[in-house]
Amino acid sequence: MTQPITDQYDRPLRDLRISLTDRCNFRCGYCMPRALFGADHAFLPRRELLSFEEIARLAAVFSRIGVRKLRLTGGEPLLRRGLETLVEQLRGIPGIDDISLTTNASLLTREKAHALRAAGLDRITVSLDGIDDTTFQRMNDVGFPVARVLAGIDNAEAAGLGPIKINMVVQKGVNDHDIPAMAAHFRGTAHIVRFIEYMDVGNSNGWRYDHVVPSREVLDGIEARWPVEPLAPNERGEVASRYRYRDGGGEIGLISSVTQPFCGTCKRARLSAEGRLYTCLFASDGHDLRQRLREGGVTRSSTRR
Ligand code: GTP
Ligand code: 5AD
Ligand code: SF4
Repeated sequence: MTQPITDQYDRPLRDLRISLTDRCNFRCGYCMPRALFGADHAFLPRRELLSFEEIARLAAVFSRIGVRKLRLTGGEPLLRRGLETLVEQLRGIPGIDDISLTTNASLLTREKAHALRAAGLDRITVSLDGIDDTTFQRMNDVGFPVARVLAGIDNAEAAGLGPIKINMVVQKGVNDHDIPAMAAHFRGTAHIVRFIEYMDVGNSNGWRYDHVVPSREVLDGIEARWPVEPLAPNERGEVASRYRYRDGGGEIGLISSVTQPFCGTCKRARLSAEGRLYTCLFASDGHDLRQRLREGGVTRSSTRR
């Protein structure tokens, strides 16, 4: 049996984030701005994407070297038709004990949520950058209403995919005014809103603070209304710092990627939609695993235990 691997900083590889598509039906300004992802943008042609079978074969190899958690992302992963088929294949891999999905929830119908749960999906995280409709529609830039995302969240909960984590990327002057309303909306539910420091990754100067609201400020604002207390991490290397409302109103999280980078405990690798492996979110080149797969480098026997 193959041994778990660690990197040169002695960090074990436990989580694999798998991007299923480079496409999205939203145009969030920090991720797929219209100016760069307009009608003439060349998304990857179908043949360039890893097939479900290829993804499952790679995931099996990763489980043999220590990966325990799989997270399916995009673009928008629900744009991949028949996603539940992939979940079912991943569920059958020995050693994988957590499969989750990060989605904008726009396509999360009742039927889809049930099908995903039945296939073995454990949980979902929903990206929602505002609870005020005008703010959210400005963020997604396709006029998508908050109510339909909330319906997707309800569908997921009803299907047994809760409690749900809700990611709000906070950009100064864009949606930070909506933080209290966001917290208020999900207080008293089992869902966990996580306020994320915006990372200016697209900018070549990198890591500018201009649009970042430090988590400390977010926390102070919330604390002033609803006192909170810290909670212990669920696991080593968890990206969010957890807090709970002292009055029993539930839990929130703060993801301080900019002011308190968590690289030291990072245990993630990422597989892009076209099959490149990146050992860091900010790695530039990656390793082409698709070519290895398609040339026969990853055989059926190497995916067996
Ligand atoms: P769980 O803890 O398993 O729920 O997953 P997660 O929080 O890692 O997944 P999610 O997709 O919700 O990611 C949350 C946020 O963490 C993302 O929006 C990013 O802002 C941030 N993040 C995730 N991975 C990295 C990373 O490797 N580096 C940095 N800097 N930020 C990351
Ligand atoms: N800064 C912080 N978070 C980001 N996400 C995407 N781009 C950025 C960024 N520049 C978040 C999305 C989603 C998660 C996978 O990553 O909102 O919730
Ligand atoms: Fe990017 Fe997610 Fe927004 Fe789509 S919904 S544009 S993938 S941040």
